[in-house]
Amino acid sequence: MVKVLTAESIYQQIMDLYGVEDSYERWESYRNRLTDYLINNIDKDKSVAILGVGEANDIDLNKIHEYVKKLTLVDIDIDSVHAGLKKYGLENSNKISIVTTDFVGISKKDYIDAIEIIRSDIVKMQSMFSVNETGPKYLRKMEDIFEKVNRHEIDLGIDEHDYVIAVGVHSQLFDRLPWIWEIMLNVVKKSGLSFPDINNKLMEQLNTFIPKFDDAILGCAKEKAFIGIETRVNLFGPTPQGALQANEDIKRKVESKNRVIYRDTWPYRDGLVLLIVK
Ligand SMILES: C[S@@+](CC[C@H](N)C(=O)[O-])C[C@H]1O[C@@H](n2cnc3c(N)ncnc32)[C@H](O)[C@@H]1O
Repeated sequence: MVKVLTAESIYQQIMDLYGVEDSYERWESYRNRLTDYLINNIDKDKSVAILGVGEANDIDLNKIHEYVKKLTLVDIDIDSVHAGLKKYGLENSNKISIVTTDFVGISKKDYIDAIEIIRSDIVKMQSMFSVNETGPKYLRKMEDIFEKVNRHEIDLGIDEHDYVIAVGVHSQLFDRLPWIWEIMLNVVKKSGLSFPDINNKLMEQLNTFIPKFDDAILGCAKEKAFIGIETRVNLFGPTPQGALQANEDIKRKVESKNRVIYRDTWPYRDGLVLLIVK
C-alpha cells in the first residue's frame, strides 16, 4: 500500500488519526469540573485566550463564552476549531476571534519531507528495510527541523489577554515527529523496533523549547495563565514528554505562592491533569 501512496497523502491520513475518539461525550464530567474551576478563578467580562483549543473537549466553550467579554481561540488546526464552534453552536458569535498559528514553526512541508525519508526507503528496500539504516536519516531530518524551530521567536499569535489558558498542549507540540516514525514502522510491521535516539532528540528539544513556550504564555497573561498538563498517561506509565518539562519549568518559574495546583482525573487512560495558575 505504501508504494502507491505519496508522502502527502500519508501525511493527511496520519493527521486524520489525530485526537482521542469520542472524547467530547466521554469527558463530559471532567470538562464540567475543569470549566467550572476556570470560571471560578476568572473575573467576569474579561478577555480570555485559549491556546490549542482544538475542538474544545477539555473546556466547555459555551460556559466560558457566556462569562467573558472577548474570547480568542488559537490553534494550528483551523478545521478542529470550526468543528468545535459548530458543536457548541457558537459559529456566529461576535465575541470570538479565531487565530490560526503554529507555536513551533514546523511547516506541513517539513512533515511531508520527513515522511518521504521513510517512505522512499520502504519502497526502495521493501523487506530489506532496516530501522538502523533509516533511523539516522530520520533523526538528521528532525535535527534540521529543530534547528529551524530554535532560530525563531515563539509567536503565540495573540497580544495580551487578561487570562490565557493552555490545556493538553505541551505534550502535543512536537509529538507528530515521533508519531510519524511509529506509524510508518507499523505499516511495515517493524513497530516496537524503535530508534531510541529519536526519543532522546525529542527530549532535548523539549528541554530547550518548553521554557520559552511557557515564557510566551506567561508573558501574554495580564492576570493569570492556566497551564494544564498531563501527569501520566496511565496508572503505571510515565508523564508524557512536553508535559514533564512544563511541570519542571513552571516549578522553577512561578513562585510557589502563585502556583495553585488543581488536580483532576483526565479520562484518557487514567491520566491526571495538573493545572498550574500564575
Ligand atoms: C490535546 S489538544 C487540546 C485540546 C483542548 N485543550 C480541548 O479543550 O480539547 C491539543 C491541541 O493543540 C493543538 N496544537 C498542537 N501543536 C500545535 C502547534 N504547534 N501550534 C498550535 N496548536 C497546536 C492541536 O491542534 C490540538 O488542537
